[in-house]
Amino acid sequence: MAELAINGGTPLRTIPYPVWPVYDETEKQAILEVLESRQWGTLGPCVLAFEKEFAEYLGAARVQTVNSGTVSLEVILRALGIGPGDEVIIPPYTFIATATAVLMVGAIPVFADIDPASNNMDPQKAEGAITPRTRAIMPVHIAGVPADMDAFTALAGKYKLSLIEDAAQAHGSEWNGRKVGSLGTAGSFSFQLSKNMSAGEGGAIVTNDEELAEKTWSIHHVGRKKDGVWYGHYTLSSNLRMTDWQAAILRSQLTRLDGQIDTREKNVKLLNNLLGEIDGVEPFTRDPRATRVTHHLYMFRYNSEVFDGIPKNRFVEALTAEGIPAHSGYTPIQKQPLFKTEEVLRITSGMDYASVELPAADKACDETAWLTQDALRGVEKDMNDVRSSILKIRDNCGELG
Ligand SMILES: Cc1ncc(COP(=O)(O)O)c(C=O)c1O
Repeated sequence: MAELAINGGTPLRTIPYPVWPVYDETEKQAILEVLESRQWGTLGPCVLAFEKEFAEYLGAARVQTVNSGTVSLEVILRALGIGPGDEVIIPPYTFIATATAVLMVGAIPVFADIDPASNNMDPQKAEGAITPRTRAIMPVHIAGVPADMDAFTALAGKYKLSLIEDAAQAHGSEWNGRKVGSLGTAGSFSFQLSKNMSAGEGGAIVTNDEELAEKTWSIHHVGRKKDGVWYGHYTLSSNLRMTDWQAAILRSQLTRLDGQIDTREKNVKLLNNLLGEIDGVEPFTRDPRATRVTHHLYMFRYNSEVFDGIPKNRFVEALTAEGIPAHSGYTPIQKQPLFKTEEVLRITSGMDYASVELPAADKACDETAWLTQDALRGVEKDMNDVRSSILKIRDNCGELG
C-alpha cells in the first residue's frame, strides 16, 4: 500500500489552506457603487482615490496606475527615455516580465547574477555588468524580500544610473523602515491575481520625481497632457489606463494588506523554525535591514541528496499531492525560447543569452522551492502540516524513485 498521496495514499491534509484572493462585503459594495456611478473607466474617482491612498501608504509623492505590472515597467523605461541601444541590468531569478519590459522598449536586458543568500540580484555582479551603454539598474524584490537597496542606491549614484525597483511581489515590504517601491528613481507594482494585493490585473508606477510622473501620466493616457485639451496628443503612446472596477477593489485590498502581512510574518517565523530542523530543506536567512517582508512566496532550499536523489519537481509534486500549496519556481530565464526569436536577436544585435553564465541563478532554479501565499495565511497547525508533509515524503521517498 502506498503511503504518499501522489501514489494513491491518504493525503496528509484534506482541508484546504485559505483561498486567495480574499474579499468581503467591502468589495461587493465598492463594485456596486462603481456600477451605479456609471464612471467605469478613464481616470474614474476610484482610480484617483486609490492612487492617492497607495502613495500615502508607500510614503511616496506620486502613484500612477496602469493596466499591469509589465506595462508599469515599460512605461517607467519609456518615461526615462530608455530605448534602442541602451542596456538595463536585471536579475535572472525573476518572472519574464522584468526582461520583456526592457525588450519592449527596444533596450537590451543584461543579466547580473543573484546573491544565493537571498536569490536577489547581487550588487557586485550588477556593478561588474555596467558598461558605457548602461542606463538603469532594475533590482527585483523577489518573493517580497527586499533587494539590497543600500548597495543599489550607492551604485546608481556612483554611475549616474536610474534605479527602477520591480516591486511586483513586494507590496508593503520595507527596507530600513521605508517601503520598497518608493526608494529608487521609480518603482513598479503588479496587481495580477496571485499578488498580495490583487484586482485580477493591474499595475502601479511609484515615483517622487514630479517630472517623471508627468511623463508616465501622459504615456499611460494616449499621449495627453494634464493641462491640455482632450484631443491634444503629444507623445506616441497607448491607452494603458486602469478601470474604476479594479481601483475600487484595490482600495479595499489596501485596507487589509498590513493585517495580512502580520499573519504571513508570524507564520514565516514558525515555518523557519519548523523547516530549519529538517535535514534536507533549508529556510533562507533574513537580512536585518529587511524590516518588514510581505512574503508573496515562501522560498526554501531543497537538497535532493537527502531525499534519495528525487528531483525537486517530483518532490514539489508530492508535496502538492499531500495538500500543501507548493510550486517548483522559476527555470533558467536565459534559456527561454523568447531570447532566440528574430525580434529579440534584432533588438540585442544577436546576443546569445543561452550561453550567458549565471551559476547562482541556475543553482537557485535547481534548489529553490516555493510555498505560495495561501500557505502563509493559515494558523499554526497549517504550518505544522507543512513540516509533517515534508517529513512524510522524506520517510517514504523510496516510493518516488
Ligand atoms: C517580478 C515580477 N515582475 C513583473 C511582473 C509583471 O506583472 P503583471 O503580471 O501584472 O504584468 C510580475 C508578475 O507576474 C512579477 O512577478
